[in-house]
Amino acid sequence: MKVAPSILSADFGHLARDVTAICKGGCDLVHVDVMDGHFVPNLTIGPVVVDAVAKAASKPLDIHLMVENNSFFVDLFAPLKPEYISFHIEEEKHPHRLIQKIRSLGIRPALVLNPHTPPESIDFLLEDIDMVLLMSVNPGFGGQKFISSVLEKTKRLKVLIDKRNPDCLIEVDGGVNDQNVKTLAKAGVDIVVAGSFVYGHSKGVATAIASLK
Ligand code: DX5
Ligand code: ZN
Repeated sequence: MKVAPSILSADFGHLARDVTAICKGGCDLVHVDVMDGHFVPNLTIGPVVVDAVAKAASKPLDIHLMVENNSFFVDLFAPLKPEYISFHIEEEKHPHRLIQKIRSLGIRPALVLNPHTPPESIDFLLEDIDMVLLMSVNPGFGGQKFISSVLEKTKRLKVLIDKRNPDCLIEVDGGVNDQNVKTLAKAGVDIVVAGSFVYGHSKGVATAIASLK
C-alpha cells in the first residue's frame, strides 16, 4: 500500500518541519488539499504556501483540488511541478479538456469522486487519466468518519479500470486508519490518503505510515 499523508492535519506553524517528517518517515506522496471556500465550506492554501511545501518535500506532491474554476487553479499550481493534480468530476463541465491540459503541462491527471458519485460517471475518461481518487468522507475537513460504501465503489471501479486502463491507480481519501486499510487493500486500493491518523499518531508519523503500509 502506498501512503500519501495529508498535510491538512500538519501544524501549519511548523509546516516545513512536518512535511520533512513524513518524507523521512517513508511516505510515497505528499497530499495537498486545496479548498476555495466555494466548492467546499473550508478555505486552505494557495501556491505561495504550497511552494514552501514543495521546497521542504523530498517526495512528489499530490495536489487535490476542491475548488470551482479548476482550470484557473491548475494554472496556479502547475509551475510547482506536482506529480498529480486531481479535480472533482462534480465540478467540471469539460473534464476531458482539462485532463488534456494537465497532461500537456507534464503532470499526471486524476479525477476525484465524492461519496455519492458512481464510478460509471467516469467510464469514458478512464483511458485518459493516471489515477482515480475516491472520497471516503465529504470533502472539506480532516478527522471525519470513514464512509464504508466506498468499498463497494472501489470494487466496481476496479472492474472498469481493468477493462479500460489497468495502469490507472485507485486512491482513497478520508477517515483512513490502521483498522480499515486492509479492507481497502483487498478491494483494490493502491494509495491511501491519511491526515489525522498520521499526524495524530501517538508514536509519530513514521510509525503511522509504516502501520498503513
Ligand atoms: C478532506 C481531505 C482529506 C483529509 C483527510 O477534504 O481531502 O485529504 O485531509 O483527513 P483524514 O485522514 O483526517 O480524514
Ligand atoms: Zn484530500
